[in-house]
Amino acid sequence: MVMELRQPVSAVRDVLPYRKPKRGRDFWVKDDVLPDPLGVYERNLAREDWTQGAPWRREIWPGIRAPHALTPEELAPVERWICEQAGVRALKQEAPAQGSLSHNHVQVVGEMESTAKPHVDSLALCDFAAVIYLHPKPPRAHVGTSFYRLRLPGGGLGGNVCPPGCVNLTQAFGVTKLPANAWSQDVEVENVFNRLVVYRADFVHSATAYFGQGDRRNKRATALFFWKAVR
Ligand SMILES: [Fe+2]
Repeated sequence: MVMELRQPVSAVRDVLPYRKPKRGRDFWVKDDVLPDPLGVYERNLAREDWTQGAPWRREIWPGIRAPHALTPEELAPVERWICEQAGVRALKQEAPAQGSLSHNHVQVVGEMESTAKPHVDSLALCDFAAVIYLHPKPPRAHVGTSFYRLRLPGGGLGGNVCPPGCVNLTQAFGVTKLPANAWSQDVEVENVFNRLVVYRADFVHSATAYFGQGDRRNKRATALFFWKAVR
């Protein structure tokens, strides 16, 4: 991976605080979250309004996406559960001045289309992000969501949380890209059909890996969500 530096590598160290991701505080997991997950999966697979991301277009997101993955009736109880768990009054979408967060999009990504890309979500636009795994039978383990911490130049491990005042890692580090091996996997949540994983958007995270080739039915399918919290 190309490293574009605006300051020396040594300055990259120690800029992120570390907090071990803790279930119930920093991330939340709910199995069997949708009453009809197969119906949601099949309905979304049958769509024809996909937008392509990487590697076909110059986008930071991989695979294909389409909006309105869940209906309002399907989404409302999910949001209620998250509010209870995270202790927030409500969840809302921030209208972005530019770009978009693809809230409530279905995303299908094959193993040839991307790899893990640890990042934080834009903190200007969201406090929480979530995925619901929609592939009924993932073909292998380690294809869920992982949290990462920085690998320090001396071999030690550094932080994992975007510091207050920064909206993304580019701001935190002052570089647009870090080396591919800059991150070490810390905590992993496995890909289980109809599992919801919600996490604080300021924790460094990524899809652990993608799977499948050819037909979209073979590939890793998820619904994606991004919210601002109303406290
Ligand atoms: Fe993300």
